[in-house]
Amino acid sequence: MKDLISLHYLSTGEIFEILKVAEKLKYELKNGIAHNILKGKTLGMIFTKSSTRTRVSFEVGMAQLGGYALFLSSNDIQLGRGETIYDTANVLSRYIDGIMIRTYKHSDVEDLAKYSSIPVINGLTDLLHPCQVLADLLTIYEHKSKLEGLKLAYVGDGNNVAHSLLYGCAKVGMDISVATPKGYQCNFDVVESAKEDAKLTGAKIVTTEDPVEAVKDADVIYTDTWVSMGQEDEKKERINIFKQYQVNGKLFSMAKEDAVFLHCLPAYRGLEVTEEVIDGPQSLVFDEAENRLHAQKAVMALLLGK
Ligand code: CP
Ligand code: NVA
Repeated sequence: MKDLISLHYLSTGEIFEILKVAEKLKYELKNGIAHNILKGKTLGMIFTKSSTRTRVSFEVGMAQLGGYALFLSSNDIQLGRGETIYDTANVLSRYIDGIMIRTYKHSDVEDLAKYSSIPVINGLTDLLHPCQVLADLLTIYEHKSKLEGLKLAYVGDGNNVAHSLLYGCAKVGMDISVATPKGYQCNFDVVESAKEDAKLTGAKIVTTEDPVEAVKDADVIYTDTWVSMGQEDEKKERINIFKQYQVNGKLFSMAKEDAVFLHCLPAYRGLEVTEEVIDGPQSLVFDEAENRLHAQKAVMALLLGK
């Protein structure tokens, strides 16, 4: 593993290794055991979109591992003025030890990884959000003591988070049902390649337009915003289309009794999820947000710590 671009590119073993290292680093942090695994290493963090969790957890994680993180807003670096990905990749590879990038076009991240001699970590593209799903898997594992054989139901927009969940579940042997409205389904190629991944673990992948069908017997209910970054102009139309896909108390009660609720955040209460669910006793959203830190520290330790 040189980069973290997509969970599709990782083996089941590599995903479990990240989760194992994350658990260990979390335990050690809670018990005051300090680390200097990344002493002297620098991570460049390129952002062309907003972020709270990704930015803070990478920066803090790097500091906790003894390294340094550099925030590179696309407004301030020449990439934002048209310098090529090729030149940016080559130049940054001469200065720093790893790059985390959050941007729009997924192919830009693939190109950055292709032209960089240092590890590249995908901090979200329009297509995928692998770091999020590593934290999600860690959270589910902590609360259910297993991943294989569980069922996750994703209800809402067939977006970047849904895509990474498809790969993540397929790789660890967790069944996943995705309920989206017509026209907002997951990317066809992602669904097909996740189904290929699932053949190796026996995970079942179902796509439907029916949220009730999706949540039946689910151990985990997951949703995300109906309006992702870059879709602000479609807000009114999307809110109207997605109304039937709200995760509210009624829908949540149709899952297993001990089902847990996840949301990558930021959340919009009253739209994709009601307060009753996200602020209710079965919601794990803040454990999930915390686990971004631990999961990404594991990714950085494994990629940059060599
Ligand atoms: N979940 C997530 O990636 O949050 P941010 O957009 O705040 O980084
Ligand atoms: N789907 C959302 C995730 C935010 C973390 C977006 O892309 O804006």
